[in-house]
Amino acid sequence: MSSKTVAVIEGDDAAPEAVAPTINLVRSLDLDIDFTYPIVGEPAIEQFGTPLPEEAKAMIDDADTTFFGSTSGSSGVALLYLRWGKVTYANVRPSKYFPGAPSALAKPEGIDFIIVRENLEDLYLRTEGHLQDLSNLGLVSKTSRKPLAELGEGRYAIKAITRDGSERVLRFAFELARTRRHKLTVTSKYNMLPETDGYFLEIAKELAQEYDDVEMNHYIVDDFACRLVANPHQFDVTVMPNLYGDILSDAAAGLVGGLGLAASGCYGDDYAYFESAHGTAPDIAGQNIINPTANLLTAAMMLNYLDFSSAAERLNKAITKVYASGDVLTPDVGGTASTNEMCDAVRAAF
Ligand code: IPM
Ligand code: MN
Repeated sequence: MSSKTVAVIEGDDAAPEAVAPTINLVRSLDLDIDFTYPIVGEPAIEQFGTPLPEEAKAMIDDADTTFFGSTSGSSGVALLYLRWGKVTYANVRPSKYFPGAPSALAKPEGIDFIIVRENLEDLYLRTEGHLQDLSNLGLVSKTSRKPLAELGEGRYAIKAITRDGSERVLRFAFELARTRRHKLTVTSKYNMLPETDGYFLEIAKELAQEYDDVEMNHYIVDDFACRLVANPHQFDVTVMPNLYGDILSDAAAGLVGGLGLAASGCYGDDYAYFESAHGTAPDIAGQNIINPTANLLTAAMMLNYLDFSSAAERLNKAITKVYASGDVLTPDVGGTASTNEMCDAVRAAF
């Protein structure tokens, strides 16, 4: 097999404490992978006067993929590049219960579903502004009794759902459903927002004709949220616009042990990058107690993407064993182990 290159950006606050031992573990597997370390954020500003220098971009471009720790500061521009610059439109966020992990549910065993979140559009265009700037456009609200111009001081945000943007992520979700239980749940606020969220569902229904081996159903997103909490076992692959996916994937993590277990990968047609769904945990930075599971599971997703699927499977199994034995877990999941100790236990369980 030809060698692969992974660009590693460790991120901010406590993120490097989870990323570094995860990468060490992957290195210890002796796979044919080279690692490069683009300099972004504060150190890049000091050295190059910009948070995302051309050198860093080139390293990301030249790598087969990027492994990214969470960002809280100026390294955020790297995230923007990895998503919008590299057009990674499908954000895959699995929620799988590992027996031994704490859960708010009485019977979490068997929870195993995936949120596919559209990753680039919807409200994430970040086109916001002053309502007054819209007053001459003749826009009409379907609910407010006042014309837009008379709403007074206020702000707006544009929610854009495009055909191409929706079709590609929906297609991705249908294809993913084909590799699993051939079930796909689509959700959005299509009753209240027929022009945008309704369009997303309409395109899903069109594709369902083509993917007639996949059983597709749909729920309005508020109803879906209730079902997700009350009976998550019913779901397999789910797909939704960006902001709902952002919020509900964090909620979903809560069902299976918390954000410390929240793996995530962002896929496009020519590039993918891997970044756990959790933030930088600034409150526990420097303590070596951040739960490495999200990064380890994310690394397993990356190994699959790089065609090291047997190593990925072994990594997932090793994590499962460590939760089942329950002896070496970080404090957020009920243990007393450090981040490094938990990573070592996962390595030993291979
Ligand atoms: C995530 C994060 C990001 C998002 C932030 C850091 C921009 O919450 O990856 O879920 O909203 O997408
Ligand atoms: Mn988020």
